[in-house]
Amino acid sequence: MPSVGIVVGDGKKEYPGKLTLYVTVTCIVAAMGGLIFGYDIGISGGVTTMDSFQQKFFPSVYEKQKKDHVSNQYCRFDSVSLTLFTSSLYLAALCSSIVASYVTRKFGRKISMLLGGVLFCAGALLNGFATAVWMLIVGRLLLGFGIGFTNQSVPLYLSEMAPYKFRGALNIGFQLSITIGILIANVLNFFFSKISGWGWRLSLGGAVVPALIITVGSLILPDTPNSMIERGQFKLAETKLRKIRGVDDVDDEINDLIVASEASKLVEHPWRNLLQRKYRPHLTMAILIPAFQQLTGINVIMFYAPVLFQTIGFGSDAALISAVVTGLVNVGATVVSIYGVDKWGRRFLFLEGGFQMLISQVAVAAAIGAKFGVDGNPGVLPKWYAIVVVLFICIYVAAFAWSWGPLGWLVPSEIFPLEIRSAAQSITVSMNMIFTFLIAQVFLMMLCHLKFGLFIFFAFFMVVMSIFVYFFLPETRGVPIEEMKQVWRSHWYWSKFVAA
Ligand code: BGC
Repeated sequence: MPSVGIVVGDGKKEYPGKLTLYVTVTCIVAAMGGLIFGYDIGISGGVTTMDSFQQKFFPSVYEKQKKDHVSNQYCRFDSVSLTLFTSSLYLAALCSSIVASYVTRKFGRKISMLLGGVLFCAGALLNGFATAVWMLIVGRLLLGFGIGFTNQSVPLYLSEMAPYKFRGALNIGFQLSITIGILIANVLNFFFSKISGWGWRLSLGGAVVPALIITVGSLILPDTPNSMIERGQFKLAETKLRKIRGVDDVDDEINDLIVASEASKLVEHPWRNLLQRKYRPHLTMAILIPAFQQLTGINVIMFYAPVLFQTIGFGSDAALISAVVTGLVNVGATVVSIYGVDKWGRRFLFLEGGFQMLISQVAVAAAIGAKFGVDGNPGVLPKWYAIVVVLFICIYVAAFAWSWGPLGWLVPSEIFPLEIRSAAQSITVSMNMIFTFLIAQVFLMMLCHLKFGLFIFFAFFMVVMSIFVYFFLPETRGVPIEEMKQVWRSHWYWSKFVAA
């Protein structure tokens, strides 16, 4: 079937459609899928510093920490079992995103979200009522399975639902929910840590609330027209698209969706297909964007902010408060990207954010290095000094929150053609999880060995990833999602792989 979209001056198509209330509300509800991911990121770091939690499940870490004269601050929290608690979830998410790719393609994006919510709910209950380490670990595996499903389906859902001119802003709703989840978790940790003995149960069990939101949300959300067409429901898709776009004339867009779906039907093995030469740019982005997102080192701050702030000389209350401050910066700066992403474009944000993160990482390394030296003995840390460090950490978090944070999810979800979309998205999720796992797992050990050089390590990657973006990532702003091939065809490097 020929595609008859309206072609504008530069060869790009324009579909009629506006930002309807219907699509806005739908996208807000779906984006709430990010809450569970964010809540978990924020909660785990704080819980692992709570005395009662450590005493019950990780007594050796507790003993080590309580010793008055810990000679080396860098190594205070270095414990494999404690980090395994945090990072086991990411391994589970990695496995389930592969299953989720199948479910998302065969049964639609909604079912994946529903499964994600239910699994996460089960994990939260098990964790809240845990009486033994195995319950904690099984609970975390369930949470991870849940996140694998939602992180696979929500970004795709948002990118497919949104009118292309607002795709960036609506998709970043997902990242905004992640940051709100992190912030809520940090605030709750602050209060629950004061309930001695069982405050950690509230922190971990509280994950039930965001889980219920996305579970109920997924039941009331419509499926995307792309996904309906993928499953042969043409009439339904057309009616739905009219409602979503708020116009009667959706023929062009529907035609293009059908063309994309026909092409997609010819593909029997989406995984094997991904290895074809013409998908090289997609595969490269599916692997490198999430890996680079994690190599910014953001989760060192997100998981371990309270630990990190205690390490550099804050008391445990002050440490949690500082984590709340960075959480606020994270939410605020994400709003900036919602405003700017469809105006300034993705590349600008990637490059500006990268530069700002590089500068702040070097500054943090220098500030910590100057005080702690290589033996980790700071003496008394003056208050102003600690404030300067927190300030640079905030500048760094802000940069991440308007660049690699949201774009790390947005860009992959908008560049894959339908025939490989689910499979490629699950590579993105898996890579994100593998690198989150690696960094979560080795961070405390790296801090102990690389000391302040840890920040230089991440700064190095900032340079590499910015060069990559500059040369290899084309601008995708304002291009309809099923028209993305034009972007690769006109790229100086990728055009060699994607035939005209
Ligand atoms: C990343 C997470 C990170 C969060 C911080 C997300 O985009 O995938 O790993 O913790 O942003 O806001």
